[in-house]
Amino acid sequence: MRMIELIEAKKRGEALSDAQIAYFVQGVTERTIPDYQTSALLMAVCFRGMNKHETAVLTDCMMHSGDTVDLSAIDGFTVDKHSTGGVGDKTSLVVAPLAAACGLKVAKMSGRGLGHTGGTIDKLEAIDGFQTTLDKERFQAIVQEHGLCIIAQSGDIAPADKELYALRDVTGTVNELSLIASSIMSKKLASGAKALVLDVKTGSGAFMKTPEDAKALAEAMVDIGTKNGRQVQAFITDMDRPLGWAVGNAVEVQEAIDTLRGNGPSDLTELSLSIVTAMLEMASGKDTAVCRAEAEAALQSGKALEKLRAMIAAQGGDARVVNEPSRLPHAPFERVICADKNGFITKADTEAIGRVCTLLGAGRTKKGDALDMSAGLMLHKKTGDAVQQGELLCTLYASDKTRFDAAEAAFLQAVTIESTAPAPLPLILDIVKA
Ligand code: URA
Repeated sequence: MRMIELIEAKKRGEALSDAQIAYFVQGVTERTIPDYQTSALLMAVCFRGMNKHETAVLTDCMMHSGDTVDLSAIDGFTVDKHSTGGVGDKTSLVVAPLAAACGLKVAKMSGRGLGHTGGTIDKLEAIDGFQTTLDKERFQAIVQEHGLCIIAQSGDIAPADKELYALRDVTGTVNELSLIASSIMSKKLASGAKALVLDVKTGSGAFMKTPEDAKALAEAMVDIGTKNGRQVQAFITDMDRPLGWAVGNAVEVQEAIDTLRGNGPSDLTELSLSIVTAMLEMASGKDTAVCRAEAEAALQSGKALEKLRAMIAAQGGDARVVNEPSRLPHAPFERVICADKNGFITKADTEAIGRVCTLLGAGRTKKGDALDMSAGLMLHKKTGDAVQQGELLCTLYASDKTRFDAAEAAFLQAVTIESTAPAPLPLILDIVKA
């Protein structure tokens, strides 16, 4: 078999055979296919798509490209969550401790930033000393003792996805349904949790720009998960605005801590409570209202914040950040951006806001770029809010002040202020169950 044949076939819009997909995944895993041919095939898939069968085969091959984790030695009900990627999406940093505080076991493998979206692992690495690479035994021991542990997808779990993810990030080949579904589900199935909540983002900051595309992705992933014997629910949630106010790495860790303290933004708090409620429902079969009350109690009691502290300490991080925000990286420079007229923010291109963070140094432009953990931005207004001329819209943070001019120009271009208030946007648009 030759890679050029697969590229040509997909370019013509043909379905790849099971053997061709297996050949591709094996070649990616063993690194025998050069990046330029892999990228060419990924681009052809972006234009031509893959059918349901191809997507299922791709997922299965990627899942079996490495180890699968057996979590059966962990006492309790194992749960996981995964977001399709957003801007300001620090939900995992709130959901994992909250779920653990409710008695669930969260053995979570997370990713780095992808395209314009941030990644949980990059955010956690803003905490001094935090280890995102642990061996299997230590990972499971921390979950057993504290109820949660978040590590980077190890090289042994879906290694084909690891290669493809890094390449897609820098070749404009992220936002295609079958590539996203197989990427997420291969890792989640290999990671072994009994139940999974998927947070499928939709809107200008999501890979799926319309609710219809998001629903199709949600259904594809719920279907794959269910056929593989897992309990799965997919939330379709708004990403037409960043989630919360902070976008970046250290600034998002701070916002997650504030949320676990009960002082977080309402959208992040609501989404986190809803996801943990769904996890509790799947684990216990109890009513939604009972599960919601349990999640709220874990947040209010401070138990969830204590779980975050325990996880940071167990993973070698400086847990003092929980009480002393000054221990997180802080940018030496800031620039404020103000409104140039009165009105309402009617639109904010959230993908462009994610790219502003990359311009500031918080995201990658090529494979392996180092990140400025202190870079990012803090929104002061979001879509729907009224603004007065001269009022603060956003503060930019960076370690290199030469980055500000381009970032400010891009931010101003992303935001539209008009005289009439837009219709309110719901946070949770739909929930897809098996
Ligand atoms: N998250 C993933 O893990 N993979 C994708 O392709 C998109 C979001």
